[in-house]
Amino acid sequence: MPELEANDLMEKVVSLCKRRGFIYQSSEIYGGITGFWDYGPLGAELKRNVKELWWRQMVVLRDDVAGLDATIIMHPQVWKASGHVDTFNDPMVDCKVCKGRFRADQVSEIPCPRHPKMSVAQCPCEKTAPRPFNLMFKTYVGPVADEDSVAFLRPETAQAIFVQFKNVLETSRQKVPFGIAQIGKSFRNEVTPRNFTFRSREFEQMELEFFIKPDEAVEAEAGSIAEPSGSGHPGEPQRNWGWRAWLQYWVEERIRFYESIGLPRSSLVEYWQKAEELAHYARATVDILYKFPFGTQELEGIAARGDFDLSQHQQFSGKSMEVFDEETRNAFAKLDEEKRKALWQRFYENKKVDFGKRGCPEDQIEKRAREAADKLLRGTYIPHVIEPSAGVDRLVLALICNAYDEDKAPDEKGNLETRIVMRFHPRVAPIKVAVFPLLKNRPELVAKARQVRDLLRPHFAVFYDEAGAIGRRYRRQDEAGTPFGVTVDFDTLGEKGAALADTVTVRDRDTMRQERVKIGELVEWLRERLR
Ligand code: GLY
Repeated sequence: MPELEANDLMEKVVSLCKRRGFIYQSSEIYGGITGFWDYGPLGAELKRNVKELWWRQMVVLRDDVAGLDATIIMHPQVWKASGHVDTFNDPMVDCKVCKGRFRADQVSEIPCPRHPKMSVAQCPCEKTAPRPFNLMFKTYVGPVADEDSVAFLRPETAQAIFVQFKNVLETSRQKVPFGIAQIGKSFRNEVTPRNFTFRSREFEQMELEFFIKPDEAVEAEAGSIAEPSGSGHPGEPQRNWGWRAWLQYWVEERIRFYESIGLPRSSLVEYWQKAEELAHYARATVDILYKFPFGTQELEGIAARGDFDLSQHQQFSGKSMEVFDEETRNAFAKLDEEKRKALWQRFYENKKVDFGKRGCPEDQIEKRAREAADKLLRGTYIPHVIEPSAGVDRLVLALICNAYDEDKAPDEKGNLETRIVMRFHPRVAPIKVAVFPLLKNRPELVAKARQVRDLLRPHFAVFYDEAGAIGRRYRRQDEAGTPFGVTVDFDTLGEKGAALADTVTVRDRDTMRQERVKIGELVEWLRERLR
């Protein structure tokens, strides 16, 4: 594709999404509602494929991850414990003239509604000082709408995983290290939703909380902690992995996932947050960014969060989030006194810092850190966590942007015309194969094509189309990103002899080359190419 200007590409993508039924504005007939989007027939399939592939890689194909499907509305204390009630804020400024509301940290990028040639930062309108705006949507549970019935739509799926940690541990027969995965809707009342579906107020997340032993427990068991190289996949998990090796492992696993569904590594950026950018509880966070036409932006964040979340829920709920780990207890029992003391001391010092960050009263920090370190030596600890957290809608948008292409294809008269083609990886393509009778007005072609459709339908997402010239039908499927088009023609019916009878042409979306394949071999032929 000739290099398109970023704005042109984004305009084309948005227009194709509407025209072909990938994405519509929510409530469009009423003028839409800002920050909300609906997925049309093709978008719904694409999104389902993405979620199923994530679930398959993260849960189905692993022994050490269990799934969860929790409610959107949870006990309001969850959000107090997680810090969202007090700190999940964006700084907001109001414009007293146009009545617009803007995120203070984005005013230099957002055009002023009254002076479109200027950004909000540059325009002469009168603005208020920034003030915090909490992003959680509030609602009321039950028939009385008062302060006691306030609840929130979850702003992330992660907290339900922490809250159900003990239940899952007890019912799934997992042992640390293990993970809990969840896909689901989340809601954030963004001050300025932007960039099509990228920053929406209702969105879906795919989150994993992978629980690991504290480094001191690993060192007691394995003798030392593996030093990760800092880049590349560290291979199969090992018992001497501390949080750094696990973090690198999950970054690489996640990048491999993106590659496996068609986002080349060259379109991704791995960004290790600087110390000053980290959330106060995070030990490290790696963002995986995608080069969107509107800028390089986050697809997924992978955070090493220590034991912050489980500790907070233990404190707020009064319920233990500790595990008893026999291997850890036995390892400490066998250690020589010097090593045991050294690990105790290190754990104790780290715990003091953590309790301090979590607002523990000064006079209790040492006592509680000492208790936690004593417990560790007896094999009891609160697991630490690595959190790979991905946005479904962002990923769908990245796949659409990445797939969009234009090339030249001959029209009915053989003249070259511009063709729009969505080059989705077959794994995510909404429709895998389209089936066409060459002509609609020949009952024998139509009957045979319907037989082929019925043969393929149990195996693949199939679209049957008999309307219009065959070239137009191919073009429609190119825009949908369908990898293969199967045409039933007169040769299929045996009109040119037995050799071609019961064969069809299969057209490849990307090369536009056609191949004849026996109907009896078609399912296997397609299966091999759609893996
Ligand atoms: N749980 C991390 C996030 O929602 O961004």
